[in-house]
Amino acid sequence: MNFKTRTHTCGQLREENIGETVVLNGWVDTRRDLGGVIFIDLRDRYGITQVVFEPTYNPEAHNNGKDLRGEFVVSITGKVRKRPEGTENESLPTGFVDVMVDEIIILNEAETPPFQIKDGVDVSEDIRLKYRYIDLRRNEMQQNLKMRHQVAQITREYFDRNDFMEIETPVLMKSTPEGARDFLVPSRMHKGKFYALPQSPQTYKQLLMVSGYDRYFQIVKCFRDEDLRADRQPEFTQIDVEMSFIDQENIFSLVEGLMQKLFKEIKGYDLQIPIPRIPFDEAMEKYGSDKPDLRFDLEMKTITEALKTSEFRVFKDVIEKDGIITAMVAPGCADYTRNQLDGLTDFAKKLGAGGLIWMRVKEEGLEAPIAKFLTDDEKQSIIDSLDAKPGDLIFILSGPRIKTLGIMGSLRLEMARRMELIKADAKPSLLWVTDFPLLEWDDESQRYYAMHHPFTSPRVEDIPLMETDPGKVKARAYDLVLNGNEIAGGSIRIHDAKLQAKMFECLGISDEEAQEKFGFLMSAFKYGAPPHGGVAFGFDRMVMLFAGKDSIREVIAFPKTSSGMSLMDEAPSNVDDTQLKELHIRKK
Ligand code: AMO
Repeated sequence: MNFKTRTHTCGQLREENIGETVVLNGWVDTRRDLGGVIFIDLRDRYGITQVVFEPTYNPEAHNNGKDLRGEFVVSITGKVRKRPEGTENESLPTGFVDVMVDEIIILNEAETPPFQIKDGVDVSEDIRLKYRYIDLRRNEMQQNLKMRHQVAQITREYFDRNDFMEIETPVLMKSTPEGARDFLVPSRMHKGKFYALPQSPQTYKQLLMVSGYDRYFQIVKCFRDEDLRADRQPEFTQIDVEMSFIDQENIFSLVEGLMQKLFKEIKGYDLQIPIPRIPFDEAMEKYGSDKPDLRFDLEMKTITEALKTSEFRVFKDVIEKDGIITAMVAPGCADYTRNQLDGLTDFAKKLGAGGLIWMRVKEEGLEAPIAKFLTDDEKQSIIDSLDAKPGDLIFILSGPRIKTLGIMGSLRLEMARRMELIKADAKPSLLWVTDFPLLEWDDESQRYYAMHHPFTSPRVEDIPLMETDPGKVKARAYDLVLNGNEIAGGSIRIHDAKLQAKMFECLGISDEEAQEKFGFLMSAFKYGAPPHGGVAFGFDRMVMLFAGKDSIREVIAFPKTSSGMSLMDEAPSNVDDTQLKELHIRKK
């Protein structure tokens, strides 16, 4: 094929090119036939250029131009001219010129695509994912991936300049559960044995510290077989970081430097540092979340104390069981209808609440279904502790501490949505959540789990509590939160084999099990492990937020659906029986 390579991209030509003969390669975006003159918008990832087939200018090219359809791939040769007055398109960088076609070569024909290549296309996400290669032609998606690339480049440059080494770690590793379920890969050569895909390079990066690579980072794929949501994929990317001879403050300033640079270079925004910090307990009590969205106010308040002598059965029971009573004021919402309030009660019940108490604040006092169960003093003390005003609506929830705070936290977000409290131009809200509990009690299995992961160090002053009251031990762990999304998490690690053994004990992991699962790490710690710590960013989440999207699928070239499917290549799929046989696997 007589293929001519381009002299310019489709986003490049300007008035200074007028008169030049150029070659453009690209896709036919749109085609208009206006009284014999054919106009084509030719598209590539750099932009769009209008090319013109005019019978009087070049009859042969014009004749060939008649066959063109959307998404044909073509090479055109032609002359750049100034667009006739009144036909300029100011919204296109190339909009003051067009190209008069002398020659056209059709490089490939195309079937009519299943949807239009345009921004804001009205088509289901499933269709977009099935034809992802077409979806990715859309400008919107190209901008998202470009931003993703820029975030990666800025990150690499930042860590390189700060003396970090990017070191790759294995993708086939030993199954060392970190919290989520592992993806397993059967071994052909070792019958009945399995590799696991890394949930994160956590153990490797700690081993690298033992080896003396005191500043490590990696932009790395991680794999977790967990229930998916808009901000979770089974394979996702982390910016993974680990450092030796540092404390929490070093990690904070390193991360803040990166965030400042990314905000400046990606969004043109001057981020003020230091980033505010809030301890986990306070975040839970005020915002009902370990990733609070502080773009709006709505604060919760614990009012257990104000009601501690209440005879109202619901409150009395909760106080006896060491639970919590939390309240939130929705300013100016006293006129919510019964119907709206029933809707919100259902919302809370779906999240596991026994019910939702609401109270309208009137000039004459509280109006509420439960008002008759409270004394005048109690009602007044509710109003006073919440500083509620006539016209406000009060919500109250009571029950076990973390669960109840969490439900009120969700209600807080729901009310913010209903009251439209998050403005489109709200400043980004970044904060550190610190002082997480080390352990989390699970009622079902009657044991503690590591809130972060089993390698996280307790606060030094809390170590004795590991034996007496493990639930009270705070960790040297931190999360970075952007607009209510957890975008990074990390901790200072245990670097002492004895303390690590104590941690396993708290988690109910026996010596043998610890040896079997983490023996390599414990043994490495015996050969001179430096104090170390680190952090990992959810790269996809961060790009999603920078791009203003609400799903990480929008910033991943080939994502999976929420049920873990790749609709385009139909993974996961069946495999040949011979493949299974080689892997010593039998289907049930
Ligand atoms: P963690 O489990 O908190 O920490 O993960 C770090 C960050 O990764 C992002 N993330 C995800 N993004 C998309 N899909 C998922 N399924 C998913 N799971 C997590 C989140 C999260 O903040 N090894 C530790 C880090 C450390 O201690 O240094 C770790 O993986 O944004």
